[in-house]
Amino acid sequence: MVHIIILGPPGIGKGTQAQIYSETHNIAHISTGDILRTEATQNTPLGKEIKKIINDGNYAPDKIITALLKKRLQEEDCKNGAVFDGYPRTEEQAQALEAIIKINYAIYLHAPEEKLETMILERLGNRTQCTICKQVYNTKYAPQKTGMCNKCGGHLAKRADDTPETIKKRIDTYNKLTKPIIEFYKKKGILYQIDGTKTPEEIAKEIEGIAMEE
Ligand code: AP5
Ligand code: MG
Repeated sequence: MVHIIILGPPGIGKGTQAQIYSETHNIAHISTGDILRTEATQNTPLGKEIKKIINDGNYAPDKIITALLKKRLQEEDCKNGAVFDGYPRTEEQAQALEAIIKINYAIYLHAPEEKLETMILERLGNRTQCTICKQVYNTKYAPQKTGMCNKCGGHLAKRADDTPETIKKRIDTYNKLTKPIIEFYKKKGILYQIDGTKTPEEIAKEIEGIAMEE
């Protein structure tokens, strides 16, 4: 049973790697971003609040995230382990997760400060995502063959928060609230840093070399 966290700035490739690892090891892929986007499609007060938070490049309140996460962990596919993609994102979330399960590896995908913004604007400017199975594509690096999702045939769409203005705000929010938790996992001795500018295949191979099943 293995529990892995994938940490890193917006667009660094967390979702891409979480999906590869979860499929290879047949464990759950838990993306709080995907969970929140599904909530945001509901025409409820909570759904509307979450939609605004995401599109403004801010973070959803820790209490809401922890409640959604606990619910997700009850699902059948979490019995064999999980890859957490974009969670935890704050110190409070990291503490809350400690109380729920033991994390074996924290993988930190990073890029040099001077390259980061240009690289992320380019990657996210070219990203599309399947509206049904959430598979991520990139018109430049990982194109879909048919204009529809290669996996399930679903419609592909751009994310509403992938505008240059919101991407810059997401990077700021990340620097303020998520960067400090890198230290949290370093102190626990389970932090592994990987250069996020490498190809998806190279990164996946490095993760395989680190995150052995226990
Ligand atoms: P979330 O959906 O997690 O967004 P994010 O953190 O901004 O990250 P992205 O999903 O944009 O990027 P990614 O790192 O997954 O990259 P991807 O693999 O797609 O969260 C969205 C929002 O929800 C947050 O802003 C916040 O509001 C809220 N939220 C979520 N979790 C929360 C939490 N825990 N607490 C509070 N609020 C929360 O790759 C990007 C593109 O690049 C793709 O096109 C891909 O094909 C391509 N690509 C991937 N890897 C490579 C590579 N190595 N080389 C070249 N291209 C690559
Ligand atoms: Mg993602």
